[in-house]
Amino acid sequence: MIKPARIAPSILAADFSKLGDEVALVEPHVDLLHIDVMDGHFVPNLSLGIPVIASLRPYTRLRFDCHMMTTNADAYLAELRVAGADIVTVHIEAFPEPEQLARNARSEGLEFGLVLNPPTPFDAVAPFVELCDLVVVMSVHPGFGGQSFIDATLGKIEEARKFVDSRGLGADIEVDGGIGPENVGRARRAGADVFVAGSSVFHAEDPVAVIAAMRTELDMSLTP
Ligand code: DX5
Ligand code: ZN
Repeated sequence: MIKPARIAPSILAADFSKLGDEVALVEPHVDLLHIDVMDGHFVPNLSLGIPVIASLRPYTRLRFDCHMMTTNADAYLAELRVAGADIVTVHIEAFPEPEQLARNARSEGLEFGLVLNPPTPFDAVAPFVELCDLVVVMSVHPGFGGQSFIDATLGKIEEARKFVDSRGLGADIEVDGGIGPENVGRARRAGADVFVAGSSVFHAEDPVAVIAAMRTELDMSLTP
């Protein structure tokens, strides 16, 4: 069953010199906060890490969805939890056998999810979806904000939705990358329930208006 739509702004696109203010601006209008951690190795870019997560924690009550674009996320679960992470997602390309990692994350009190890059077929995560609180379909190549949504990933969202529903599993389906008012409805109709949006929100003149426009599209998307 598809759940109520949730919007998760990605702080990668925020102004890091005033991160607390940026988050406070969107907080009343969104459902969780997406935090992109990059290691310059799994992806060709660096972003932010545990000290930033910890310093942001007292500024917001939003849950932290930490997207680990790193080869060694397993080494940092306890530190992520202490810093204030609620959800940790790791890439199936980095952890092709993620069972133990999923158990470790759960025993740290974290929700756990697996992320698929655009070229990776859904089959790669299928055996592990029952261990997941969420499955994240990347709709851009990971490493950079501001890229265009890859339409071909909609089919993978549909596949994930069918898989989860047909087995009665509880995993959320999140879509990450290139999301804005112009395509959020299509991602919703394909079956996503969590929508990550970075540039469309934080690079906008009026981030709150863009979030409202996404809500309108989401509300309309499932009405016949
Ligand atoms: C890409 C990140 C995304 C990104 C989304 O590596 O995982 O979360 O910040 O940003 P936009 O919405 O700009 O594509
Ligand atoms: Zn992300």
